[in-house]
Amino acid sequence: TSPLPLDLRARPLHDLRLSVIEACNFRCPYCMPADRVPDDYGFDSASRLSFDEIETLVRGCVALGVNKLRLTGGEPLLRKRLPQLVERLAAINGLQDIALTTNGSLLAAQARALRDAGLGRITVSLDAIDPQRFSQMSGGRGDIADVLAGIEAAQAAGFASIKLNCVVERGINDDQVLPLLERFRGSGHVLRFIEYMDVGTCNGWVRDRVVPSAELRDRIAARWPLRALEANYRGEVASRYAFADGQGEVGFVSSVSEPFCGDCHRARVSADGKLYTCLFAGDGHDLRPALAQGESALRDRVAELWSNRGDRYSELRGASGTSRRHVEMYLIGG
Ligand code: GTP
Ligand code: 5AD
Ligand code: SF4
Ligand code: SF4
Repeated sequence: TSPLPLDLRARPLHDLRLSVIEACNFRCPYCMPADRVPDDYGFDSASRLSFDEIETLVRGCVALGVNKLRLTGGEPLLRKRLPQLVERLAAINGLQDIALTTNGSLLAAQARALRDAGLGRITVSLDAIDPQRFSQMSGGRGDIADVLAGIEAAQAAGFASIKLNCVVERGINDDQVLPLLERFRGSGHVLRFIEYMDVGTCNGWVRDRVVPSAELRDRIAARWPLRALEANYRGEVASRYAFADGQGEVGFVSSVSEPFCGDCHRARVSADGKLYTCLFAGDGHDLRPALAQGESALRDRVAELWSNRGDRYSELRGASGTSRRHVEMYLIGG
């Protein structure tokens, strides 16, 4: 077997974030603003990778060092027969972790089947606890009750320590941070606050709307003292803090104020089979021609692309030479 590829900055490939569908039933303004992305947006389903192609892709990537897979969207639970796909992927030797990032709206009906299929972990996006504010944060499409029911169903189905992601925008939902913690501190679920990022091209990002994690951390610690924790694994995206009173932990994803490109071991693949070497890449690389030739051709192609990767957008953000053209977040699932 050939050696595992390193990129130009000596980073190995460990994680694959695979979008199974580009469509979403929400229109979060920081990702897919309703006035910029039409309702009938999407590729026709024929241009999505088939389950056979996805299995070949994942097997090939595991042979290159991937041991962690995250299924994303759009909204991944809109993909038909997702549990069948999970079952096939869970059978792949060498894959230690299969996780899913979802908006949670359709989770109540699917949590049990996903667990039975072998899904390991679930992360649910949750940007507000107040019902009106939640509705606003989903572009008027989501109902907080469905998401809370989804989280409960996932817990009942046996998913432990569910992660809850809250993207924080100053003046929009930063008043939800303490109420969200009030609700979920001590529940066993882990809330993580994410700095609003300049992903895609249509979310109208301005730096003033970013609440730096250090500021949030101070706000939270003033109410509930915090103690820093070690990362769970090298390259973990979130930094972790424990509540000093033993009521669990909270995480911060600080890609704007404290970039973590140095340890970025993630490749992303869109639902139509394009590989993106960075969340902020302009273009993807079509894997379909290689996929059509089978696993070994796919493996060679991904190894070649990874070996040529030099991305570190968050470290360079805004510096001259960084492009303003970024793949849309909903095509690669964050
Ligand atoms: P764990 O496996 O549980 O550690 O998951 P994760 O935190 O890597 O994944 P999740 O889908 O929950 O992502 C949390 C946030 O981090 C999202 O807003 C992602 O867009 C962001 N994120 C994840 N990976 C990267 C990355 O490589 N670069 C940047 N800039 N942001 C990332
Ligand atoms: N900034 C930060 N996080 C974002 N996400 C989507 N758009 C953005 C953005 N502009 C988050 C989602 C989800 C995760 C995969 O990415 O809320 O939790
Ligand atoms: Fe949909 Fe997730 Fe984007 Fe919101 S952040 S619009 S739920 S893909
Ligand atoms: Fe990785 Fe690009 Fe995010 Fe940096 S900005 S951590 S290189 S995905």
